[in-house]
Amino acid sequence: MEVIETKQAFRQACQDAQDRGLAVGFVPTMGALHQGHGRLIKAARDQTGFVAMSIFVNPLQFGPTEDLSKYPRDLAKDLGIAKSLGVEVVFTPTQEEMYPNGDPAVTVDPGPLGDRLEGASRPGHFRGVLTVVAKLFDLAGPCRAYFGEKDAQQLALVRRMAADLDFPVEVVACPTVRELDGVALSSRNGYLSPEERRAAPVLFEALSAAAAAVRQGERRGDALRALMARSIGAEPLARLDYVAVVEDDTWDDVTALTGPARALVAVRIGPARLIDNLALPWEAGFAAGESVQNRPEAWSSDPSSEGSS
Ligand code: PAJ
Repeated sequence: MEVIETKQAFRQACQDAQDRGLAVGFVPTMGALHQGHGRLIKAARDQTGFVAMSIFVNPLQFGPTEDLSKYPRDLAKDLGIAKSLGVEVVFTPTQEEMYPNGDPAVTVDPGPLGDRLEGASRPGHFRGVLTVVAKLFDLAGPCRAYFGEKDAQQLALVRRMAADLDFPVEVVACPTVRELDGVALSSRNGYLSPEERRAAPVLFEALSAAAAAVRQGERRGDALRALMARSIGAEPLARLDYVAVVEDDTWDDVTALTGPARALVAVRIGPARLIDNLALPWEAGFAAGESVQNRPEAWSSDPSSEGSS
C-alpha cells in the first residue's frame, strides 16, 4: 500500500491505475476509521480494480464552535486498517497541501438543500464538504466514489454536485453500518460516556418507530415527525436538534407519503451531536393501501440501494 501526501502524486497514482485499465474506486474519509468506512472500502474493492482512500480532516467543514481540534486522529492505526482491507493508495495531505493559500476564496455553493437540516444547524458545513470533495474528485479523476447513507444529506448533495458540475464520477451509496443496539457507527460516538452511550439507541428507536407507524398505515408527515420527537423526548439525556421526513428525490418535507421517503434525526447527547436516518418502507401501490406487513426487509437499511446511483 502506498501512502501519498502530495496532490500531484495522488493525481498521478490514480491516472496510472486508469492507464493500466483499472477502474478506480475512491473512498474519501476524515480518518478514525471504523466498520462504516470498512463497508465503503469493501464495496470499492468488490466493484473496482484499484482502491484509493483519502484521510483528511477538512477544517473548511467545521464551524468555529465545533470539534475540529478534538476530532479523533490516529493515522498509524488508520493505515493499518486500510492495508488490512486491501486499499492500494492512501492520500494523507496536510492542511497546507490541500489549502496552500489558506481558506479558498472560490468554493462550491451547495444550493438550497445546503441550508436545510444539517446545513441549518451547521452553517457553511456543506460548502466546506462540497469544496473539499470537488478538489478530491478532480485529483482522483474518473472513478466510482463511495459514500455512506449514514450521512444521507451529504450523499444527496455530493450526487447533485457530481451531476450538476459534470464530474466524471459515479457516486455509489453504501448502507449504514450499525452496532447491535442500532447505534450507527460514528467516530463521534467516542465522545460519549458509558451512560450517554446507553442513551444513544434513541435515534434508531425513533426512526424505527416512524417506520413501524408507516407499516401500520400512517401516511401523515406531521404525525411521523411528532412520533419521532416524542420518542426522543422520552430519553432524558437526549436534546433534540431536528426530526424530518423528506421525499427521497427532492428532499422536500413530506406532507403525506406518496413515494419513497426518508426519516432523519439529529440529537445532542452530552458533548456529542449525533445524526441518523432511515429509508421509510415503500412499495409501489403502497399509497393505494396495499399491505406490506410481514416485510421487515422493507424497513431495514436498504441494501439494494448499494450499487450505482
Ligand atoms: P467521514 O465522517 O470520515 O465519513 C467518510 C464516509 O464514511 C462518508 O461517506 C460517511 O457517510 C461514511 N460513513 C460514516 N459512518 C458510517 C456508517 N456507520 N455506515 C456507513 N457509512 C458510514 O463524511 C466525511 O468523512 C467527510 O464529510 C468527507 C466526505 C470525507 C469530506 O471531508
